[in-house]
Amino acid sequence: MDIIHGVDYYPEQWLEYPEILSDDIKMMKKAHINTVVLGVFAWDFEEPEEGIFDFSWLYDIVSKLYKNGINTIIATPSGARPAWLAKKYPEVLRVREDRTKNLYGMRMNHCYTSPIYRDKVRIIDDKIASVFYSHPAVIGWHISNEYHGECHCELCQEAFREYLKSKYGSIDCLNNAWWSSFWSKKYTSWSQIESPSSIGERALSGLELDWKRFVTFQTRDFMKMEVETVRKYGTDKFIASNMIGSLIEIDYPHFSDILDIAGLDVYPQWGRDDNVPDEAGFQHDVTRGFKRKPYFLMETTPSMTNWEEVCQPKRPGIHMLSAIQAIAHGSDSFIMFQWRKPLGGFEKFHGAVVSHDGCDDSRVFLEVSETGAILEKLSEIQGSEVKPDVAILFDWENRWAIKASKGPRGSIDPDQRAFDIYRILASQGIDVDVISSDFSIDQYKVVIAPLLYMVKAKTAENIKDFVRKGGVFIATCFSGVVDEYEKCFLGGAPGPISDVLGIKSKELFTLYCNESNRVDSPVFSNSCKCTFWCDILKLHGAEAFGVYRDDFFSGSPAITVNSYGMGKAWYIGTDLEYEGLEKLITHIIKESDVKQSLLNLPLGVRVHRRSRDSFDYLFCLNFNNYAVSISIPDAIDFESGVNVTGNIELKPYGYSILKLIR
Ligand code: GLA
Ligand code: ZN
Repeated sequence: MDIIHGVDYYPEQWLEYPEILSDDIKMMKKAHINTVVLGVFAWDFEEPEEGIFDFSWLYDIVSKLYKNGINTIIATPSGARPAWLAKKYPEVLRVREDRTKNLYGMRMNHCYTSPIYRDKVRIIDDKIASVFYSHPAVIGWHISNEYHGECHCELCQEAFREYLKSKYGSIDCLNNAWWSSFWSKKYTSWSQIESPSSIGERALSGLELDWKRFVTFQTRDFMKMEVETVRKYGTDKFIASNMIGSLIEIDYPHFSDILDIAGLDVYPQWGRDDNVPDEAGFQHDVTRGFKRKPYFLMETTPSMTNWEEVCQPKRPGIHMLSAIQAIAHGSDSFIMFQWRKPLGGFEKFHGAVVSHDGCDDSRVFLEVSETGAILEKLSEIQGSEVKPDVAILFDWENRWAIKASKGPRGSIDPDQRAFDIYRILASQGIDVDVISSDFSIDQYKVVIAPLLYMVKAKTAENIKDFVRKGGVFIATCFSGVVDEYEKCFLGGAPGPISDVLGIKSKELFTLYCNESNRVDSPVFSNSCKCTFWCDILKLHGAEAFGVYRDDFFSGSPAITVNSYGMGKAWYIGTDLEYEGLEKLITHIIKESDVKQSLLNLPLGVRVHRRSRDSFDYLFCLNFNNYAVSISIPDAIDFESGVNVTGNIELKPYGYSILKLIR
């Protein structure tokens, strides 16, 4: 199969402009578009009145595209509903957390519980699948659009109570889990329970957590209904959905199992600063982590967005580089939002392959078409895997719990901590899986858990088992503090991972913004500054690998390492400055026999590896606006087929794909 080079296409906006529709097909061929996504927001065209369906216009377009060699991915339209539906059945609209009911408007504005909405979606999905499943152009289904958000209507409240009943069985059990003996919060009947609200309960973190779990559960259930509806017609077409990486509250890793392919929508602010390539890379790796399989990049702009404060178009070369970056991380597609700029509406200024001038000689068009021509040559890489030696545990429930918890130090940002570690690894050419703490970890050499505040029982077992068998585990401060109900461990932190880490945390000493301490360790040439907080530790078998220099706990351990079974477990008890953290992580990685795709990468260069059979494909990406030279092993230049070795040059925003025989 080819790598998908696709666009989100909205022909329904142009049905009265037949010449535009035929120009579109000609121009798509010129731009090397091999697939379009159709129907994402077309419900009002597909069912203009309740029960009256019209797919003829869509069928006609799908067929015309197909005759021109372009495949289709058909979307279910549940992301935005027609006005008639919302007006006739107001229950389909969301209620906000402050209990105000939304009016008809915008999109994604629907209740995932409403039986009427589910019914209407099921009916339209079924019609779509029945009309299109046998069309040879249709290669897959695109389920809805960026599932997210929550609804607090009475139907959702009732469903939440049912969810809690089946989770806890008895109200006593729930009270116990939520520690509701505090502030007279004991519930005596299920009917007293309400979702968290700014005009109601915000002080029970158990409630907050279970509400978020319920929202994921209900959203997943809704998606499952959509998936089953289209799946009924056959299993020969893939089912994918566009998700938003880690930017959304929904615990995507826990519902992507119902999809064949996980999807990513990503809109990096290219050019903003040096972190952007890694921010994008992180989202790619988060998405690959949902199924630990190749995934689809389902939306990105060919040029600019329209919703940032500064919507800067991509500079020359960035578009191609961003496409190669996607493939490098394990995507088998590069789909752009959107094909043509609409004349009106919210997204008329959003980047598109074709602008309002309708020309095919714009810089954007030419770069898109050049990118498409290159992607056509990469079909051999499609389906190959990314198999990192290192995983970062990045767990939605843990992130929710940290955010829901009051104290012990404001502005704790688990995402930033995970990203810092990710950046350190990325800058050294180390591929990483970013995964939920519920996933198995046996296949890695090193597992890093930044701020793993919540340690679930199974996670603790996995970690111990992993280290016992020879793995290297790294935890940072504020780990092992609470269980899955967000209750602190009796016996203190780091709870069930104390023995594997060989330490106990005696006191968490937080620092004001104008305060800092220093850590002395053999790994820092001098010492390393630390801020934010200092875990005061007692060794229970571990050795100190770094000690605090100042304050009343001067000389006490700040970094520890414990031998456990055949492996080692590290604990970093404070927030080390980036350079120090980098030195420490580099030291640990060096000891651990982790694959580094290339050594001594220049700043701004990233390298990723995909593998198949006895081949590795090495993607060398230069995010600098100047040329750099990198040193490579014996390889074949994938595009030219020529043997290369020694030093090669990467052009400004350039790349090179190398094929290595293992
Ligand atoms: C999201 C949506 C698209 C579009 C883009 C614009 O990802 O899914 O429909 O609105 O944003 O950036
Ligand atoms: Zn609802």
